[in-house]
Amino acid sequence: MSVIDKLHIRNGVASDLEQISELCKSIWNGRDFLPTVWNNWISNEIGSFIVVESENQILGVYHHYLLDSDSWLETLRVHEQYRRQGIAQFMIKDYLERSKKLNAVNSRLVTSIKNTASRNLFEKHGFSEVLRSQYCSIELETITTNSMQEEFSILKDSKQIYSLLKESPMDDRLIPLWWRWWQQSDSTLSELSDNSFIVIPKSHSSFVLVQPSNNYGYGNDYQILFHDISSDVLKEYLSFIKNNISSNLNKKIFCIPEINSTQIKSLENIGFNKSTSLVILERRLNPT
Ligand SMILES: CC(C)(COP(=O)(O)OP(=O)(O)OC[C@H]1O[C@@H](n2cnc3c(N)ncnc32)[C@H](O)[C@@H]1OP(=O)(O)O)[C@@H](O)C(=O)NCCC(=O)NCCS
Repeated sequence: MSVIDKLHIRNGVASDLEQISELCKSIWNGRDFLPTVWNNWISNEIGSFIVVESENQILGVYHHYLLDSDSWLETLRVHEQYRRQGIAQFMIKDYLERSKKLNAVNSRLVTSIKNTASRNLFEKHGFSEVLRSQYCSIELETITTNSMQEEFSILKDSKQIYSLLKESPMDDRLIPLWWRWWQQSDSTLSELSDNSFIVIPKSHSSFVLVQPSNNYGYGNDYQILFHDISSDVLKEYLSFIKNNISSNLNKKIFCIPEINSTQIKSLENIGFNKSTSLVILERRLNPT
């Protein structure tokens, strides 16, 4: 009897945390974020965790999240001692079936460009590359505060944010809401508006949208989205954020723009560090 034949599948629950922490301890050099979000995502009903177990031992886990007709897959992990036996494939099949039942049309996920295991696995299941992005970040304390040419204000009302986003559609086909990329739609803009604030100059010539990552249940960083803003002006926005919005809790500002985009050049010019290169993979689920 293979390990697959013995697998039992169920929703993850808070009391699984100890086993999940054990399963994740070899992942990303012991810095896997999954144990940190486990209880928060379960208690706040942020998507669903699914675990597979055999004889009460958890051997694999994933999380899925639905927004409108898009389904997002994340935190797929298999216990180190049970890899290459088809457990990930088993979970992907389960995930695809669940997503179809929920009438999802597209499924998407992000992985590191260097994660050969993950890329092979998903390509085998019909996923293909739709976007390459680059994680860029800066420590708030390293941002220099210069004298401001612009006067900024902060927009917190989600209805106003929504209207502003509707009036000025972004060029990107896919928008990262925290670490989940979605197609532009009313639902996406609505979720984005509920989880962000906007920094806008009095001239209204541009704006920077800020997503506090704790709105997504993890950490205290700020994620920014912006378009067509020069390095000099972006520097002023960041000075404003540092001086007027951040607290001691907020350590970092990050952005995950498309590789080779003008945004990356602006970010680099003002001292952001480029790190992990990412690939977003997508698969269509229900032919229309
Ligand atoms: C990626 C991961 C989930 C794969 O789990 P798994 O149960 O070992 O995968 P499977 O046995 O179902 O493998 C299915 C296919 O994936 C690919 N694959 C899996 N591991 C691989 C590896 N180390 N190198 C290359 N390809 C690999 C192969 O195509 C494999 O098919 P094959 O065995 O017939 O060659 C597991 O290695 C893991 O937990 N890694 C750490 C976390 C991670 O990277 N998660 C994915 C990104 S969120």
